[in-house]
Amino acid sequence: MQSQQSHRKDEHVFLAEKYYHQSQAGFDAVRFIHTALPELAVSDVNLQPNLFGWLHPVYINAMTGGSAQTGKLNGQLAQIAQQQQLAIASGSQAIALKDSSVVETFTTLRKHNPEGFILANLGAGHTWADAKAAIAMLDANALEIHLNAAQELVMPEGDRDFHWLDDLATIVAQSPVPVIVKEVGFGMSRETLVALAEIGVQYVDVAGRGGTNFAQIENSRRPDKDFAYLASWGQTTAESLLEAASSPMTALATGGIQTPLDALIALRLGARSVGMSGQVLHWLIQDGLDATNTKLQAFMAQLTQLMTLVGANSLNALRDKSVVYAPELLSYAKQRQLA
Ligand code: FNR
Repeated sequence: MQSQQSHRKDEHVFLAEKYYHQSQAGFDAVRFIHTALPELAVSDVNLQPNLFGWLHPVYINAMTGGSAQTGKLNGQLAQIAQQQQLAIASGSQAIALKDSSVVETFTTLRKHNPEGFILANLGAGHTWADAKAAIAMLDANALEIHLNAAQELVMPEGDRDFHWLDDLATIVAQSPVPVIVKEVGFGMSRETLVALAEIGVQYVDVAGRGGTNFAQIENSRRPDKDFAYLASWGQTTAESLLEAASSPMTALATGGIQTPLDALIALRLGARSVGMSGQVLHWLIQDGLDATNTKLQAFMAQLTQLMTLVGANSLNALRDKSVVYAPELLSYAKQRQLA
């Protein structure tokens, strides 16, 4: 008999795919100035992100685990990560800390990707003891802690107390592996980043609005569907990256990364690396494992080609390339005093 929590994990996957849509993460509000003279060859481009020894500035971000079906998906995601040499994050391991019968649905990530870079994952509010157990479960190379207040509030059974900084500070102080504090698709503000920097956080994933939408997913799980009005809550990934631009922290970005151009723009806006969740899930469910491998390979090749097109031989060089903002994004930046 499947537990209520395992069932929820299956529903998340089903609903993320049901609501998969074209990215609305604000990348179409940022345009590169075309240079007709790139003075560069594709073979000149180095895509290495100077982050944790990763080869690519793209990783598979947190999704799942906790049920038979999602364990199978994790096994496939791990094989893809291994074949493409991409880092991969586990879905929240909280369920496995309570129920040992589902631990294998997470450890399959390590089983299929023994040498790979794996990020453990837990929600904020967990203790260092929990975080330590989550890292050990996967022999993880880094730990993600997710901030998901909007998601919890839309869940009838969700948390209602969001005093998170104290536990977070302890985890950051104790962890032997890097800790990345992430959102789940509502973005981050400069004020949040300042508060995180003050407790010693060095890595964030701004995880903005515009891709997978947990206000929509959790609302559709509610019998009353009361929170439909919250569907456009949060800062887009583009807006969140502008918020992060003045922060001393290393920012990663997830949220609506679907095309190599989305990735190029996020990297230009300051992301050290870009995470993909919903898009990889969509490819895997629709087209299967081999096709997802092929698509990710093409994604990386095209990202290299786009770097050539804008005349950037490295991610550092990319950040100096000229872009213009559409009026709405420019207005956001001005109102927030970010431009
Ligand atoms: C997620 N995401 C997520 N994040 C997290 O930190 N812990 C988790 O357990 C989950 N679970 C989860 C399930 C599913 C099915 C999806 C699609 C996503 C959020 C994810 O890591 C990412 O931050 C957002 O989905 C935004 O990125 P995309 O999906 O727009 O690329």
